[in-house]
Amino acid sequence: MFLDVKNLTFAFGQTVLFENLNMSIEAGSFTAILGPSGKGKTTLLRCLAGLEKPVSGSIVLDGNTLTSDEIHIEPHARKVGLLFQDYALFPHMSVADNIGYGVRKEDKAFKKMIVNELLGMMDLKDFHHRKPSQCSGGQQQRIAIARALASQPKVLCLDEPFSNLDQELKERMRGLMKVWFKQKGVTVIMVTHDVDDAKAMADTIVELK
Ligand SMILES: Nc1ncnc2c1ncn2[C@@H]1O[C@H](COP(=O)(O)OP(=O)(O)O)[C@@H](O)[C@H]1O
Ligand SMILES: [Mg+2]
Repeated sequence: MFLDVKNLTFAFGQTVLFENLNMSIEAGSFTAILGPSGKGKTTLLRCLAGLEKPVSGSIVLDGNTLTSDEIHIEPHARKVGLLFQDYALFPHMSVADNIGYGVRKEDKAFKKMIVNELLGMMDLKDFHHRKPSQCSGGQQQRIAIARALASQPKVLCLDEPFSNLDQELKERMRGLMKVWFKQKGVTVIMVTHDVDDAKAMADTIVELK
């Protein structure tokens, strides 16, 4: 499969958060991981992104081992994008600079092209010079999605992407995200506690028990 998670176990101290977790994900698919608060959803995404080291198990993406007993590929080299629940935008940078942040400096022409494309796609053209604090919550989320997409991830991980949005915006964003991710052909993993979000978005739902 495109992404294979095998026997992943994560613990801190005596507490085991998840044990022998297995998951296989097809390229271009949208998978929702459903589980109640405190089950380790955010931690699982942090393991995929390389921000946490599991106790044991392996993560293989597109034929490359990212995590195993011997291997820990650093976050920037993984091609795994992570949309943090609170977006984690850089407050001192403009919208455009936030979006371009993950693109290599040497790729100047590509950076300009992709930032412009994503500003258009996310309806943020008129806001490119603003700071994130001068944007609405919905716009901030779109900046964060654009930043994640700009770095051309093989997998994009979304941490409870609808939790900060009101009902109307949430429904609009569900539709838009589906279109954007299909257009970009990106493989998506979303964690959520909300079964309706999972059903609305995902091809496959995995329950964290
Ligand atoms: N490294 C750690 N040290 C101590 N506690 C942790 C650590 N990582 C996660 N936790 C705790 O584990 C619990 C579940 O983590 P989390 O991944 O945030 O779950 P979820 O996203 O499903 O709500 C939380 O209570 C969190 O505080
Ligand atoms: Mg969480």
